[in-house]
Amino acid sequence: MDGFEALRGRHLGAIAAAADEAALEEARLAAVGKKGEVALMMRELGQMAPEERKTAGPALNALRDEIEAALKARRAALGDAALEERLRAEWLDVSLPGRPRRRGTIHPVSQVMEECAAIFGAMGFAVAEGPQVETDWFNFDALNIAPEHPARQEHDTFFLHRDAADPRPPHVLRTHTSPVQIRAMQAQGAPIRVIAPGRVYRMDMDQTHTPMFHQIEGLAIDRNVSMANLKWVLEEFFSAYFGAPVRTRFRASHFPFTEPSAEVDIQCSWQGGQLRVGEGDGWLEVLGSGMVHPNVLRAGGIDPDLWQGFAFGMGIDRMAMLKYGIPDLRAFFESDVRWLGHYGFAALEVPTLHG
Ligand code: PHE
Repeated sequence: MDGFEALRGRHLGAIAAAADEAALEEARLAAVGKKGEVALMMRELGQMAPEERKTAGPALNALRDEIEAALKARRAALGDAALEERLRAEWLDVSLPGRPRRRGTIHPVSQVMEECAAIFGAMGFAVAEGPQVETDWFNFDALNIAPEHPARQEHDTFFLHRDAADPRPPHVLRTHTSPVQIRAMQAQGAPIRVIAPGRVYRMDMDQTHTPMFHQIEGLAIDRNVSMANLKWVLEEFFSAYFGAPVRTRFRASHFPFTEPSAEVDIQCSWQGGQLRVGEGDGWLEVLGSGMVHPNVLRAGGIDPDLWQGFAFGMGIDRMAMLKYGIPDLRAFFESDVRWLGHYGFAALEVPTLHG
C-alpha cells in the first residue's frame, strides 16, 4: 500500500507540475497511456490471486479515475492560463492617441483654384480644361492674334522644337488660359459659362515673374451678356474671395481677343508697407477682360450675330499672394517643405462659398 501511495503521489505531482500541454501529455502517457504505469498494473490484475485482486482492482480503478480527473483539471487550467496570457500580451488601448504622421499640405495655388471654382461655381460657371502644350492656332490665331502680331513676341512664348519636315502643326507652351475659351466654345457651343484654371508659361523671371505661373480664365456667352454683367460678376467674385466688399476700377485697354477691352484694378491700401485689399484709395491691377471679339466667337464656332459675351483672365498666384500675405512669388515653386508647411492648407479644409 505504501508503494501505491508513492505511485499516486508521483503521477498526481507530475500532472500538477506540467507547465504546458506537452508536459501534461507526457505525464498522461506515463500514468494511464498504453504503456503507462497505472495501465500496466491494471493489466497485471489478471495474474493476481482473487483475494489480492479484490482490493487492488477497485484501488487502481479509483486511482485511474483520480488521475483522469486531475489531467482534465490541469488541461483546463493550462487553457485558461494560455488565454489569460494571450489577453495580456495582445491588450490594446484603443483610447491612445494615434502616432503623429507627416502630412502633406495643399499648395496655396491649388487652394485658391478650388476657392475660385467654388465661388464661380455658385454663379453657374463650370470648370473647363485645355492642354498646356497647345497648338499655336489655339493659343494665337483663334484668339485673333495674327502671325505677325507683336503679341506673339510680347508673350515671350516658349515654342516647341519642330523639324521643317514635321507634318504636325506648330506647338507652344500656352502663354495664357485663353485658348481654353476656343476649346470650350467648340465643345459646348452657346450659351456657355465656364472658368478655366491652369498653368501657363512665359519666358520671364524676376521677383514677381516665374516662367510658369497660373491663370484663371472666365467666359460667359449668351444672347445679351454685357460689360455690366462682367463688372457684377467680378465684383461679386472679389468680395466673396476677400470676404469683404471690394471696389473695382475698369481701365480701357487692348487685347486682340476682346473688344472693348478693360484691365481691372481692385481697391487697396499700402499703409505702413502693408498691402490691404478692399481699403484705401490705391489700385492694384489683377486681370484683363473685355467683350469677346466676333472673330474669336467665329473661331469657336459661335455666330457673333446671335451671341455675345465677356471673357477675363486673372493671375491666380497673385490672388494667393494678396489673400494669404505671401511676399515672394518664386518661393511658390521651390518645393521647400518648410514653405509648404507654413503656407499650405489642410486637406480637409475644402473651400465653400460661405466658408
Ligand atoms: N489672356 C490675357 C492675358 O494673359 C488676359 C485676358 C483674358 C484678357 C481674357 C481679356 C480676356 O493677359
